[in-house]
Amino acid sequence: MVQEVVSSFKDLYGSVPRVFRSPGRINIIGEHTDYNGGFVLPAAINKELYFAVTPNTVKAFRFFAFDLNESAEIHCTNVTQQSSKTWTNYLLGVVAQLGKRGIAVGGVDVVVGGTIPIGAGISSSAAMECGFLFALNELFSLKLSTMEMVKMAQLAEHEFAGVKCGIMDQFAVMHGKKDHVMKLDCRSTAFSYSPLKLDNHSILLCDTAVKHTLASSEYNLRRQECELGVSIVAKRFPKILSLRDVSLDQLSACKNEMKPVTFDRCSYVIEENARLEATCVALQNNMLDVVGKMMYGSHEGLRDKYSVSCGELDLLVDLARSTPGVVGARMMGGGFGGCTINIVHNDAVKPFKDRVRKEYYKARRKQENIIEVAISDGTSEIS
Ligand code: GLA
Repeated sequence: MVQEVVSSFKDLYGSVPRVFRSPGRINIIGEHTDYNGGFVLPAAINKELYFAVTPNTVKAFRFFAFDLNESAEIHCTNVTQQSSKTWTNYLLGVVAQLGKRGIAVGGVDVVVGGTIPIGAGISSSAAMECGFLFALNELFSLKLSTMEMVKMAQLAEHEFAGVKCGIMDQFAVMHGKKDHVMKLDCRSTAFSYSPLKLDNHSILLCDTAVKHTLASSEYNLRRQECELGVSIVAKRFPKILSLRDVSLDQLSACKNEMKPVTFDRCSYVIEENARLEATCVALQNNMLDVVGKMMYGSHEGLRDKYSVSCGELDLLVDLARSTPGVVGARMMGGGFGGCTINIVHNDAVKPFKDRVRKEYYKARRKQENIIEVAISDGTSEIS
């Protein structure tokens, strides 16, 4: 794929580009905890976007999206949110962030394309933002640190894509390390790497092949619901800054002061942070059965309390749960479509795939997309 992107660049612009790669991400557990000051456990994966890029002298951003076969040209003085060809917003969004810091970059020619399925919930958008910002940082020697770029890419998503996302996706895309998961404290941004040892097991993603339109509005609403919960609890317990600080006992003490739905959203987040801690301990001790139990618990919380699942995701998780050799499964990412993440014994990979093929993709006439994941490094230049 990278060769195709580079050839397309040479055909279009007639010069030799620098080439960068930017991966998608998975998250083992810790969903909707990032914007609540909690913890996440993501990793970058071997599905990636490739960027072929050079500066130009025409003072414009000339973009070509290889997979969409679409081009766009935006003058450097006109970096605004676009209502058509919305994929350009992920690129222009990071240019706007540079502008806010007083950094003006000249025009660039870009071809972007890759192997991350769009809308599958494995962060093609963060890969776009991070990959392009990383490339600009190198091309124009901007000397931004990786964490600065993560935060700028996150703001690009807020301001140009309209999703008030947490920091997980951009962090994971940039900081990924081959064969390792990262435990990130989303409040302090302190993190640690641990090797992911899954003896004889594989990680499989099953794409629902749906993305319900509520996804981004409901996402932003969940954020508000959690903030409301925090403001109620903080009246009684003033030291509380986010749900990360709240215990279930404290939440229960305030139960009568909030709507049942607020209570459910908050208790899900508190429980999910606890499940993440238990998962980390279990991974260290090779107790995959416990990891699996936590993953199913996470899915149930996301479905019943946080209300971000959907029928397609629930069906895929039910198929996983009732297939021998599948250790754990849950919806992954923001919800309302996208993928499930499954930990599957190697002997069960084929039977599981066959079953999902028959009972999900064929039964529902969906485009099949089952991804076997390898854990890779974060965004980098390809020499
Ligand atoms: C999306 C957001 C992340 C995170 C997840 C849910 O992927 O971009 O910041 O909130 O949803 O865990």
